[in-house]
Amino acid sequence: MNEPMMKGVAPINTPSYVKHQKLIDWVAEISTLTQPDSVYWCDGSEEEYDRLCAKMVESGTLKKLNPAKRKNSYLACSDPSDVARVEDRTYICSANKEDAGPTNNWMNPAEMRATLQPLFAGCMKGRTLYVVPFSMGPLGSPIAHIGVELSDSPYVAINMRIMTRMGKGVFDVLGSDGPFVPCVHTVGKPLATGEKDIAWPCNSTKYIVHYPETREIWSYGSGYGGNALLGKKCFALRIASTMGRDQGWLAEHMLILGVTSPEGKKYHVAAAFPSACGKTNFAMLIPPQGFEGWKVTTIGDDIAWIKPRKDKSGKTKLFAINPEAGYFGVAPGTNTLTNANCMASLNENVIFTNVALTDDGDVWWEGMTVKAPDHLIDWQGKDWSPADGANGRKASHPNARFTVAATNNPVIDPEWNNPDGVAIDAFIFGGRRSTTVPLVTEARNWVEGVYMAATMGSETTAAAAGQQGIVRRDPFAMLPFTGYNMSDYFQHWLDMGKKLSAEGAKLPSIFCVNWFRKDEGGKFVWPGYGENMRVLAWMLERLDGKSNGQENIFGTTPSHADLNWSGLDFTAEQFNKVTSIDKAAWRDEMKLHDQLFEQLSYHLPKELVETKKSLEARLVG
Ligand code: GTP
Ligand code: SPV
Ligand code: MN
Repeated sequence: MNEPMMKGVAPINTPSYVKHQKLIDWVAEISTLTQPDSVYWCDGSEEEYDRLCAKMVESGTLKKLNPAKRKNSYLACSDPSDVARVEDRTYICSANKEDAGPTNNWMNPAEMRATLQPLFAGCMKGRTLYVVPFSMGPLGSPIAHIGVELSDSPYVAINMRIMTRMGKGVFDVLGSDGPFVPCVHTVGKPLATGEKDIAWPCNSTKYIVHYPETREIWSYGSGYGGNALLGKKCFALRIASTMGRDQGWLAEHMLILGVTSPEGKKYHVAAAFPSACGKTNFAMLIPPQGFEGWKVTTIGDDIAWIKPRKDKSGKTKLFAINPEAGYFGVAPGTNTLTNANCMASLNENVIFTNVALTDDGDVWWEGMTVKAPDHLIDWQGKDWSPADGANGRKASHPNARFTVAATNNPVIDPEWNNPDGVAIDAFIFGGRRSTTVPLVTEARNWVEGVYMAATMGSETTAAAAGQQGIVRRDPFAMLPFTGYNMSDYFQHWLDMGKKLSAEGAKLPSIFCVNWFRKDEGGKFVWPGYGENMRVLAWMLERLDGKSNGQENIFGTTPSHADLNWSGLDFTAEQFNKVTSIDKAAWRDEMKLHDQLFEQLSYHLPKELVETKKSLEARLVG
């Protein structure tokens, strides 16, 4: 094998089982550029995971939790400046600006390469370069794709082992010349000779860069979540969405769940909610009282890859897989009442990030228990007491998360690992809206559904850096994740519908939901969580023509009598509060649709403009 022998460059130590010369050359090239002290190829074994964790305990990056409370689990606390995705530092560097579109940051690829070159030069000095091979989707599956992340963060390596199929097996699939997406990641904090490392190295300069044409990802300066675990948003959404556009499939910010009715009929639903708007919760939903015999199972909680294919009987359908192998979920607000399945997933083998530490070596976050412990070490390492909480100082960061294997989930769907995927019966889109948007609406047809998804608004959350609670348009919950022009993305959805119809397929129904309407006192009116089953059941019955709905301005909606209320006291008056349509508010809302369409006027599909006109005509009067 051809290895660099240059003075001062670490040997790249290629294991004998790696036969891919292009990959080996690339590792050598990046190693020469970034100048790590050593190069380490991850094999994905448990022994390796334990060893890297132990090393990070020693360096102070991880704390080992009390094994009697959380077996084999760790807590990482990040730098306070590195706690969420950085959308304003995220770039789509396509050759043409218009291919990135007005919703993405863009820079000419050559200019970006010139900008990054001096940043990456020597950026791994004093560190180890970890070679992290991973598969998005089951290893060897025809729908899976492979990536290799070169990172100087061991925290990234261990998280990638949970979140993806990571390790040695990937090289068998790659062989000597298989395709892979090259991902380069650095925390951007080289160490001088003898300099002691810090617990969470990062850099105040950050770049999360995608080159869609060459399918490359370069990430600089952050160690957190979607900025650093490059298989997730960077690959499985931004790069994959461009692959899907070119190849006729969809990469979506969607959970996938299975629902089995008491009669034993199984449905599959994919739902797009923006970041921190309830995907993990919905994917693990526990049917409430009154829904005995119903079963909800999880296929995925964040990302869906969806491809049209004929089923065994020759009917074209949309089949979805979850490309991930774990959950990187929001901790605050999760408890045994809101999501008991999720809590049960977190008993062992978990990496927690930015939650608080209890005196007995366990974790705590806001909303985990009604009463907070008397004393905690907060996510920034400071003493915390409930008095601090009363003063508004949170013990855990609002975007604190857990990383856990999907197999920890007690309601994992038996098909979750099926390389063929599951056939989707319905799509749901939902934003976080305190006002205006009703609990549930069914689109009358595919185009109207695409319109609803395209114009969806949502209040911003702690999942991204920046101000929270601001309503912004978040088309398809993909605003930060579409790797190409948003108007072209809308067109791709419309084309998909046309193509499926032309093949005689029954298109999935499209629904729009909002669990988050508030009353005058600022309280959520809809109880949410497991109670969302009542809305889900209505939707599934609609698919079978069993439940009633009324035509409304925007589509078809249920009245109070159309939902099953057994086991819940929710009056018609309360129902009215979460379903009423205020025409004046909607006329204002349509102005926001106007603004969006103005911004996206280049290539905006005319069907959407026409749909808007016909909705507006219904709003008059
Ligand atoms: P990402 O991982 O960021 O993409 O987010 P997600 O959509 O998976 O969000 P998640 O399910 O983790 O929920 C985030 C927050 O929303 C948590 O604090 C939940 O408690 C809260 N939440 C989830 N479902 C509901 C609901 O039905 N009603 C209300 N009021 N809150 C909810
Ligand atoms: C999101 O923000 O939508 C997430 C978390 O799922 S992160 O991986 O950090 O993007
Ligand atoms: Mn997400």
